[in-house]
Amino acid sequence: MLILGIETSCDETGVALYDTQDGLLAHALFSQIDMHADYGGVVPELASRDHVRKLLPLCDQLLDRANRLRQDIDGIAYTAGPGLVGALMVGGSVAHALGLALGIPVLGVHHMEGHLLAPMLEENPPAFPFVALLVSGGHTQLVKVDGIGVYEMLGESVDDAAGEAFDKAAKMLGLDYPGGPRVAALAEKGTPDRFRFPRPMTDRPGLDFSFSGLKTFTLNTVHAAEKEGDLSDQTRADIALAFESAVVDTLTIKCRRALQQTGCSRLVIAGGVSANRRLRTGLEGMAAKLKGSVFYARPEFCTDNGAMIAYAGAQRLQAGQRDGERIVAVPRWPM
Ligand code: KG4
Ligand code: ZN
Repeated sequence: MLILGIETSCDETGVALYDTQDGLLAHALFSQIDMHADYGGVVPELASRDHVRKLLPLCDQLLDRANRLRQDIDGIAYTAGPGLVGALMVGGSVAHALGLALGIPVLGVHHMEGHLLAPMLEENPPAFPFVALLVSGGHTQLVKVDGIGVYEMLGESVDDAAGEAFDKAAKMLGLDYPGGPRVAALAEKGTPDRFRFPRPMTDRPGLDFSFSGLKTFTLNTVHAAEKEGDLSDQTRADIALAFESAVVDTLTIKCRRALQQTGCSRLVIAGGVSANRRLRTGLEGMAAKLKGSVFYARPEFCTDNGAMIAYAGAQRLQAGQRDGERIVAVPRWPM
């Protein structure tokens, strides 16, 4: 089966062609980041309009790149949620219109399931069961994965997501959106141990997270430095490093707990924050001590992309799942 995947849940228009025999044939992405940067975050109405402009031309580019025709496609998967409702509607409408025109099945898939399965597109994919840490701009979750669609939620953030905390810390440090990679780059120049940030909710049992306190701690540290007239580039880098270390340590402690609690030896990390180099190193060190291993996608498949949606959709379409006649767009949708 040749599956077209469509991702339009937020600020990236992503498409991909996945063949259930030959694997990923091609993918293409248009990022709206520059358009939203002037506003310091994603503007939903602008996002939807740009998906309308970009999606069909991007699909044609993709088919050209893979040397295929629209008629070669056997099924279409699109992100049905969670995400911005207008943006989701664009992907869903195009998917259903193409599906109807071509007479092929269409299926709306869960965006976080896409992230979760993205490491399956790599050369050495993890076998089931595994524990997955989903860390994106909207989610921080630990999930036990026994198979496609067999998910047990082990813990999640009670407030902000890790990526959201990165984005907010970035703003406080005068960095542009999206903040995660920029905080990470600034932290490279930081002096270790100049500031010590808390590791929230690690001193009590359980697998839930909380990142909003870390945000307040960052703001207070920035204000204190400003008051002392010392918000130099070096101080900003030191704060960035202290913040990043606190997030990485917190995630690492909870992942260790999750592996021990479930008896799993494989840890998958997925979502935008899983591109973070220090997080990968921290988790790999932890897992090695437990004789376990860590799996993640190539950086471009950690953040939003069409390939993960094509892959997740292919698994479900192959199993006979499909939408009815209605477009599915679910802004809030627990996995
Ligand atoms: O998965 P994603 O592309 O979109 C959502 O589904 O939310 O994740 C985006 C998030 C943003 O908050 C971004 O700042 C963060 O991932 N991010 C990073 C890094 N790259 C992206 N955070 C920390 N370090 C990075 N290298
Ligand atoms: Zn995402």
